[in-house]
Amino acid sequence: MKHLWQYDETIQIGTDYSDPKEVNAYDQRMQKMRDVSAEAKDIQRALSLSSHSVVWEIGTGTGECALALAATVKQVYATDVSSTMLEYAHNKAKQRHVSNVVFEKGGFLTGFRPLNPVDGVVTQLALHHLPDFWKFRALTIIASVLRPNGRLYLRDVVFPSSTGDYDTFFRMVIDEIRSFAGDDVAQQTMQHIKTEYSTLDWILEGMITRSGLKIVEKTDKGFLSVYVCEK
Ligand SMILES: C[S@@+](CC[C@H](N)C(=O)[O-])C[C@H]1O[C@@H](n2cnc3c(N)ncnc32)[C@H](O)[C@@H]1O
Repeated sequence: MKHLWQYDETIQIGTDYSDPKEVNAYDQRMQKMRDVSAEAKDIQRALSLSSHSVVWEIGTGTGECALALAATVKQVYATDVSSTMLEYAHNKAKQRHVSNVVFEKGGFLTGFRPLNPVDGVVTQLALHHLPDFWKFRALTIIASVLRPNGRLYLRDVVFPSSTGDYDTFFRMVIDEIRSFAGDDVAQQTMQHIKTEYSTLDWILEGMITRSGLKIVEKTDKGFLSVYVCEK
């Protein structure tokens, strides 16, 4: 049953990922900036994935990570709230003849859920779309679909609590991003800080542990943090 207070996660904040032009631009940008095969290898290692594993990726975007993981696991469920993203990712899977990724409409809070417990959940650059209370709800849902000892790989923009002077810190991060990714990405980073729901590390870590997951690994790289968590 949908409650009247339920957060509407289908409304895009920041970049509008329901716009086909934005989706195409996002995909091109990410292909240039990221090493997806290295990302997939790190996820495989962190979640101890094998050819028998079933993985759920939430906020799959243009599907690069889901498709890379599909090469080494049994099944990937890839979900997103944006139908435009899903269609784009699904077309890629068809072009690459990948048949073990199921694309479904759904978000952290609503829509598709795997029928059986999964070995791993992956979510990259997506949880910050939810305000904190709803992040916590999302994490409890993730904990509930993982099998015992199953793992979550969470990568997102998280603000460090060790930084006293946030203006200097943000300026430094934005300058660094501008130097390797250009002015557009620097502008988007500023927009991210201003309008999206990235949170402080201690708040996110409190939410993770209270949702029933244990943080077994944490890595910070610039603006991004990776949490590997176990049920
Ligand atoms: C910045 S993109 C990241 C895509 C991909 N994970 C990647 O690493 O490139 C954010 C994605 O999260 C999706 N998204 C936004 N809110 C969401 C929600 N509540 N549940 C699931 N996905 C969401 C957006 O539609 C978009 O595809």
